[in-house]
Amino acid sequence: MTQTNLRAYAVWDGPTRWFHWINFVCVVALVVLGTAILYSKELGVTDDGKILLKTTHVWFGYVFAVNLAWRIAWAFIGNRQARWSALLPFKQGFARELIAYMRGFVRGDVRPYLGHNPLARLSVSLFFVLLIVQAVTGLVIAGTDIFYPPFGYWFANWVAAPGVDPSSIVPYDKTGIDATSWEAMRAFRSPFVTVHYWNFYVLLALIVIHIAGVIATELREGGGLVSAMFTGRKMLDQKPVDDV
Ligand code: HEM
Repeated sequence: MTQTNLRAYAVWDGPTRWFHWINFVCVVALVVLGTAILYSKELGVTDDGKILLKTTHVWFGYVFAVNLAWRIAWAFIGNRQARWSALLPFKQGFARELIAYMRGFVRGDVRPYLGHNPLARLSVSLFFVLLIVQAVTGLVIAGTDIFYPPFGYWFANWVAAPGVDPSSIVPYDKTGIDATSWEAMRAFRSPFVTVHYWNFYVLLALIVIHIAGVIATELREGGGLVSAMFTGRKMLDQKPVDDV
């Protein structure tokens, strides 16, 4: 690559960049706290410690979920590269473009994309699905476990014994709880926990693939992918395919 032909192209708008880095911080924190919850027994965490871990996880979860909801809305109103049309793999001729891109990538003569290349569209779309699943299941189990909003009061109401005020129900304390309703609520919660648990591993795998993809694309095409997520601009020495 010769320095002389390099040109800066505007790509990621401000809200998209903020979303990316807030999401990054939240996901790292949620993965670390989630892993601590998962191994709390082995780590010798007390019940109070578990409540603290779960509460902290849920607070990061709220930031993560609001940020994600905001990004979903932004995909309808943001700049060209922030929109669904630049993210989803449903455009006409996508399969052909994907095959051509992968062939070029293997040969080492790809033309760079300004926004998401066809492989990245697949990965980003899958990210959205996995993140939404994780947010929805997380919000439900936060209600069943530590009775946090948005569903906490409803679950506390479900398990409270007749005549007991649901707001007096305390996590990890069976006082005021109706045993039969508790079992029914735990059975309802179970598939949400299972999905939250397995989706976590799929998400981890996709994060590894995402990082590997960024490194490989940077090596093959250049462009300063990581710094572009800070500055909003890619530096390219060829006209990108999607610069229309
Ligand atoms: C990228 C996002 C997230 C990741 C990677 C993640 C990861 C995890 C992991 C690994 C666990 C342990 C699983 C288990 O105990 O079986 C967990 C548990 C939990 N998560 Fe998340 N989580 C995420 C988002 C959220 C959100 C948005 C919320 C709610 C606002 C949430 C609420 C919870 C709760 C309440 C538990 C405890 C479940 C239990 O009692 O076992 N999570 N999370």
